[in-house]
Amino acid sequence: MEKRPKVTVIGSINMDLTVQTSIMPKQGETVLGDHFNTYPGGKGANQAVAAARLGADVCLLGAIGDDDFGANLLNHLREEGINTASVSMQENVSTGTATIILSNQDNRIIVAPGANRMVTPDYIKEHLHVIKESDIILTQLEIPIDTITYLASLSEELKVPMILNPAPYQPLPASVVEAFRYITPNETEAELFKKELQEGIKGDQWITTKGKEGVSIYKKGEELKIPGYPVNVEDTTGAGDTFNGALAAYLGREYTLEDSVRIANAAAALSVTQKGAQSGMPTQEAVERFMKEN
Ligand code: RIB
Repeated sequence: MEKRPKVTVIGSINMDLTVQTSIMPKQGETVLGDHFNTYPGGKGANQAVAAARLGADVCLLGAIGDDDFGANLLNHLREEGINTASVSMQENVSTGTATIILSNQDNRIIVAPGANRMVTPDYIKEHLHVIKESDIILTQLEIPIDTITYLASLSEELKVPMILNPAPYQPLPASVVEAFRYITPNETEAELFKKELQEGIKGDQWITTKGKEGVSIYKKGEELKIPGYPVNVEDTTGAGDTFNGALAAYLGREYTLEDSVRIANAAAALSVTQKGAQSGMPTQEAVERFMKEN
C-alpha cells in the first residue's frame, strides 16, 4: 500500500458568494447577473480538500467565526475527511467570506478575512506539535503576514518541507519567501515577487502556475515547461488551490518534484470543469485515469 502522507495546511476558511454575469459593471454601474451561489472556499480550506481527495491525511489549522457560515464550513470539512480538531472558533467574529464575480471564463475576488485574522503566531505556537508530526506543510497569504514570517523562522529548526503559495500577493521580505522549500505563485504573483527576489532563488524552489498554459518549474535558471490540458472551463476558482493541495499530497508521498507537478497540473485541469472552488477537485483514481487517457 502507498504511504498516506501527513499534510498540514495552515490557511483561510471562507464562504464563497459567487455571482455569474455576462456584463462586468463599470464604476458606479449596476447590472443584472445570471446566477448566485454559495460554495465552501478559502485558499487554505480548498487546498486541504484537494489534498484529502487525493488520499492525504490532512490536518487544517485555521479559524472560523461563531456564525452559520462557520458551522456549515466546519461540517463540510469534516465530511471531506479533514482533521479539524485544531480549527479555532472565534466568538463575535464573522467567518471569512469571498465575494466572487464570475465572467468570461475568469473571476474577480474580494476577500473579507474575518476570523482568518486570528490565525496568529501565538495560535501556531499552540499547534507546533501538529506541524512537527507532518510530512509537509502548505500555507498561503490569506492569514496574517506575521504568521508567515513566524513559519519562515521555523523552517531550519522544523526540518519539515514547507510550501508557500504566495496568494493573494502581499509584499514580503525576500528572506521570508526564500525560507520556504517550494514557492508556487501564479504568473501575476511571480511578476510581483520578481522585484523583491531578484537572484535569491536557489535550486528548483520556484514553480509558477500559468492557467491553461500549464506550469513551469525553474531550476538553476532553466525553465521546465509542463503544458496544460485542453478542458471545458466551467469555473477557474480554486484551480491554483487544487494544484497546491495536489502538490503537497504527492511531495508528501515522496514523489519527485517533476512527477508531483505533473499530477498536480492534471488535477488543476480537472478542477475547472465544475462550478465552485472545490466541486471539481478530483480523487486519486480520477486524476490518474485522466492522465492515462490524455
Ligand atoms: O483561490 C480561490 C479562493 O480564493 C476562493 O475559494 C476564495 O475563498 C478566495 O479565498
